[in-house]
Amino acid sequence: MALRSGRWFGGHDLAGFVHRSALRAEGLSSAAFDGRPIVGICNSWSELVNCNVHFQALAGAIARGVLQAGGLPLQFPTISLGEQLMKPTTMLYRNLMAMDVEESLRSYPLDAVVLLAGCDKTVPAQLMGAASADVPAIMVTGGPAKPAVFRGRQLGVGTDLWRYTDDLRAGRITQAEYDELEAAAGSSVGHCPEMGTASTMAAIVEALGMSLPGSAAPPAGDARRYAAAEAAGRRAVALAHEELRPSRILTPTAFDNAITALIATGGSTNAVPHLLALAGRAGVELTLERFDELARHTPMIVNVRPAGEHLVEQLFHAGGVPAVLRELAPLLDLTALTVSGRTLGETLPDQPTSDPDVIASLEDPVKPTGGLVVLRGSLAPRGALLKPSVASERLLRHSGTALVFDDIDDLAARIDDPALEVDANTILVLRNAGPIGAPGMPEWGQLPIPERLLRAGVDDMVRVSDARMSGTAFGTTVLHVAPEGAIAGPLAVAGTGDRIELDVEARRIDLAVEPGEIERRIAEWAPPARKYDRGYGSLFLDHVLQADEGCDFDFLRGRSGQAAREPYGILQGTIGGW
Ligand code: FES
Repeated sequence: MALRSGRWFGGHDLAGFVHRSALRAEGLSSAAFDGRPIVGICNSWSELVNCNVHFQALAGAIARGVLQAGGLPLQFPTISLGEQLMKPTTMLYRNLMAMDVEESLRSYPLDAVVLLAGCDKTVPAQLMGAASADVPAIMVTGGPAKPAVFRGRQLGVGTDLWRYTDDLRAGRITQAEYDELEAAAGSSVGHCPEMGTASTMAAIVEALGMSLPGSAAPPAGDARRYAAAEAAGRRAVALAHEELRPSRILTPTAFDNAITALIATGGSTNAVPHLLALAGRAGVELTLERFDELARHTPMIVNVRPAGEHLVEQLFHAGGVPAVLRELAPLLDLTALTVSGRTLGETLPDQPTSDPDVIASLEDPVKPTGGLVVLRGSLAPRGALLKPSVASERLLRHSGTALVFDDIDDLAARIDDPALEVDANTILVLRNAGPIGAPGMPEWGQLPIPERLLRAGVDDMVRVSDARMSGTAFGTTVLHVAPEGAIAGPLAVAGTGDRIELDVEARRIDLAVEPGEIERRIAEWAPPARKYDRGYGSLFLDHVLQADEGCDFDFLRGRSGQAAREPYGILQGTIGGW
């Protein structure tokens, strides 16, 4: 089959001369243009992203694999998104990175690409870009960080930080102990080592069939991660020859398998908008309801924090994602094609997990159901999410008085005010924290419990917002309320003192006011001031979709398709582009 790169390098004319000479200038010889596949290594390395800072070495392993299989590896950068340093939130920039990836794949002479991602948003951004460009692609993730140890206990970076921060605010640990924790917490490169968003996404990518079996869980520093990267490089060359594109892998079946894996691993709520956005790129009809349907029949079998006890390192030693998928086999469609060239069923291991305490069985799961529920009601007509596996059983059916914060600044200013009228039954509400209101839908959904209540021993409250929550976090949090407050969703007019009724069993979240009252209040409501009036932020505000549609841009759904295979201007480029 003719390679796509042949359109750049195959002709012995001016165009071929110019394109070959561009790479000869890098020191490549004519052997580079003998018809071998050109494999891009799409590298989200950045010193601003600690989770991805080891990627130069991983890219070297990928390049080694490409060379072993007779391809030519060419590494290129994209923007990168670091959860901890990027403000207001990486989610504001996920679509920008996806555009960067899509346009790089579309416009350069690549026959296949290895996507190298780790920190939360870098994984969906690269997948979304690759799905739209539809160039053969395989993903390598960066692996979890080495677990930190504090006072003899292994730490998950986020999960334990939230707990210790509450301990500090409640006076249960000292500032000196908290400082000691800080020194211990960031123990190595790699992504968060519990089932936060990055580990969830890595597992999902494997379940989708977009990475090699067994490549999600090896720790960032483990030699087997480098071997997996090398194998992905080799496989990328074969993908180029086979022209195995993401469109053949990202099918409705693959998304069902990924959602089942999400629920079974006790994974992050953040995976929901990422999968919705990816489905939109792949032309797959996926709705929030599908998550709820599959969640009702899928037990949580992976015992990893925040919903369980262990860390991803233990999951790796217990057999990793292949052992999880083997256990889930009755719930999966094993005929789904994967980037390995084999079906999902053909990639499953013969042996079950070596550690049933980490990977439980369908018959004796960690939790029978409750990985995720989709709520609807007068407060969230287009849906909201709650993760029962990290919530308090006693709060799953709860009616309480709302205490409403207008935005994150209002929350920060008042939450610890000793005069605040709040008790353990109050429902804390945050609005203007959604895709447009914040903007970018930051992870503000785990609203802090007021210090006064923490000191009295309150460890959970019902919290409601149009924000997201860190995948490492926990609590009875109603998240992703859609439509968000900033576009006149009912959250915009919820008032302090209103009654809110949460009923997880019935999948309801309601603002208990008189009929017509919400509409009457909205008629008098004025939208908050627009946060950006130029540049990318302005583009974001004009085009971002709501959480129930994955927060992609309206104009990015779908694929470049033929445009990627036959780039416009490939011949004219010798005149206009040199
Ligand atoms: Fe990067 Fe958690 S901060 S994965």
